[in-house]
Amino acid sequence: MLNFCIEGGKKLEGEVHISGSKNASLPIIAATVLNGGISKLYNVPKIHDTEMMYKILEKLGCTVKKSKNKVIIDSSKVHKYEIPENLMREMRSSVILAGAIIGKHHQAVFSYPGGCDIGTRPIDLHLKSFERLGIIISKNYGNISCKCDTIKNTKIDLDFPSVGATENIMLASCLGIGTTVISNAAREPEIVDLQNFLNRMGAKISGAGTNTLIITGVQQLKDVSYNIMPDRIEAGTYLCAGAATGGRIKVLDLETEHITPILNKLEEAGCSLNIGKDFVELVAPKRIKAVNVKTMPYPGFPTDMQSIFVAMLTVAKGTSLVEENVFESRYKFVQELERMGAKITISGRTAIIDGTRRIHGTKVKATDLRGGMAMVIEALVAKKETRIENIHYILRGYENLEQKLTGLGAKIYLKEGE
Ligand code: UD1
Repeated sequence: MLNFCIEGGKKLEGEVHISGSKNASLPIIAATVLNGGISKLYNVPKIHDTEMMYKILEKLGCTVKKSKNKVIIDSSKVHKYEIPENLMREMRSSVILAGAIIGKHHQAVFSYPGGCDIGTRPIDLHLKSFERLGIIISKNYGNISCKCDTIKNTKIDLDFPSVGATENIMLASCLGIGTTVISNAAREPEIVDLQNFLNRMGAKISGAGTNTLIITGVQQLKDVSYNIMPDRIEAGTYLCAGAATGGRIKVLDLETEHITPILNKLEEAGCSLNIGKDFVELVAPKRIKAVNVKTMPYPGFPTDMQSIFVAMLTVAKGTSLVEENVFESRYKFVQELERMGAKITISGRTAIIDGTRRIHGTKVKATDLRGGMAMVIEALVAKKETRIENIHYILRGYENLEQKLTGLGAKIYLKEGE
């Protein structure tokens, strides 16, 4: 098993290019099942999660051809409708394939994704929405079978603006009969990207980016080419790494309007920013100031940046409060940061962070994707070397992490674990 070894204490300096969005790629890769033809995708990040989606598609009968960040998927020969349990367990978000498979083939079998390291993550909203669309669901020892004669589009009012449930309804409805109207839909930019992709394929969807989405079913979808949007969480991550280390970095190829709440908080923390349409230059003070953050669904502060901000704020001047409002338990990584000298108290949904200058390297274990990335940030500000184990979690979501950080002057390398 490979570990990351990071020698901390270096200010990050230089330029970094942002990859295509993980969270936009996954539902779009799932959506390629819908046209029963060819989809050419560009700017897809080469990360573990996209590889897992290709594996599942291949099991269903798709052919997948990859070269660098371009992928060509042919879904004309899909003949299986079951998501293998081991792959489903490995990647919870594969649940969005269910909507695409049912939407096209009127049947799907998948297993319960189960709990994970950031909370129980139920899929009740997905299943309730499927039932509203006339899909009959039967559960058998952890397997969920879905069947219907046709998808009957209808009104669906989500109890919570779940990103995955909104995507699943979009995927299931685009070849349905009639019109689906989703109220209290998620408004994330990745939903807009999915809408744009599906419409390019011939679907009729409007309203993405607002809380009401309208999907009018069409009879057929066609071949498509599409360029995936940039990863706003990756962009936020590098900016925080620059801020935490007192650095000076330019982040390129992002959509800055997607990260407004992150940029606002970095400014409040004392960073000076030069913001263009698709780049941000950040100059950090010697030591950032404490700030308070509350995570919310988009356009609020993203939960995926919570752990990264917590890590950054461990070296700030003063006490910061970070409140997690999207997931029930997303603080598992905190105990690892504490091992490195961070002063964090968790009280219910809130992390109280007393900034300190005394962070030191040690051996830590990544707990999940973003929590693992928090450890990378902590290691970058730590004295001496940190060894991070379980880095497969981190590699699920960050393309070329080691090369990108090295390009910014960090001392990071891969080492075989004991
Ligand atoms: C997506 C993102 C993830 C991000 C999250 C919130 C992908 C692949 N993942 O995850 O990175 O952190 O949005 O921005 O895009 N919930 C239920 N029942 C359901 C579905 C969700 O109770 O059926 C709850 C969840 O437990 C959680 C909250 O709703 O507390 C938000 O979850 P959701 O928006 O669905 O997140 P994901 O789509 O899983």
